[in-house]
Amino acid sequence: MPTSHTKLAKFIHWTFILLYLYGIVKQVNELGDLEDNQLLLFEIAFATVFLIIVILRYSYMRRFKTFQGATEPVHIVHYYFARIVHRAMYACFILLPLTGLIIAGLYSQGYTVNATPDEEQTIMDVVLDLHGAVADLSYMLIFLHIAAAIYSRIKGEGVWSSMVPILKEDGPTTNPIVEKIIQFEHTIYDKIDALIPTENKE
Ligand code: HEM
Ligand code: HEM
Repeated sequence: MPTSHTKLAKFIHWTFILLYLYGIVKQVNELGDLEDNQLLLFEIAFATVFLIIVILRYSYMRRFKTFQGATEPVHIVHYYFARIVHRAMYACFILLPLTGLIIAGLYSQGYTVNATPDEEQTIMDVVLDLHGAVADLSYMLIFLHIAAAIYSRIKGEGVWSSMVPILKEDGPTTNPIVEKIIQFEHTIYDKIDALIPTENKE
């Protein structure tokens, strides 16, 4: 039975975007900025609050099925793909503040300079690279997520309306071009499905 996401789930989904955007926009520009003790303490407090909110969000959201609002049958490969993208987003939202906190810890232990690529790399350089890579990965995943949500809205599967308050769907598409694209999408899923050994499927 398709069900819409709860009011709380929608509230968390949309307000979390503001928190995430704030974290990205106000990012520390360079390591040297942490010399300002006020900024260092603020960063630590922000990263801690961010981390707690992500953990609380995940504990609440994990009880709901991926695509719980779908009014159309969802291909198993599509379902797992979306689940992987959602979990990868959560992994980024945990690793971003965590690596940030490690940077803060290392900074207060005396790792106050960022080596140039030809200088000997320290643990601080590794963590800074990881922090940046996780931020970049989160942008890509969110881009993919939004594109998938829009595509799902065009198909009219019901998933969009279960989370988004505007442009609600009124049934599956009847557009012949979109129907062709859906057919093609399903042949790809079938091919992927055929490649997965049966014992790996839940
Ligand atoms: C226009 C922008 C966006 C749209 C239209 C959108 C749409 C949706 C929809 C329809 C779902 C429900 C999927 C399902 O039921 O399985 C969902 C879930 C989700 N969205 Fe978005 N989203 C948007 C932006 C974002 C952004 C910016 C983030 C991250 C900061 C995000 C993170 C998530 C996560 C992690 C889930 C999984 C469910 C959960 O645990 O909350 N979304 N989104
Ligand atoms: C949720 C919390 C955080 C978010 C969302 C966040 C986000 C970001 C982003 C997007 C960048 C740019 C990465 C790049 O362009 O390569 C960055 C850089 C940086 N962040 Fe964070 N950060 C967070 C927490 C922290 C904390 C707690 C610290 C340390 C106190 C920190 C220290 C730094 C430093 C030093 C840089 C600059 C790295 C460089 O020199 O290139 N961040 N952060």
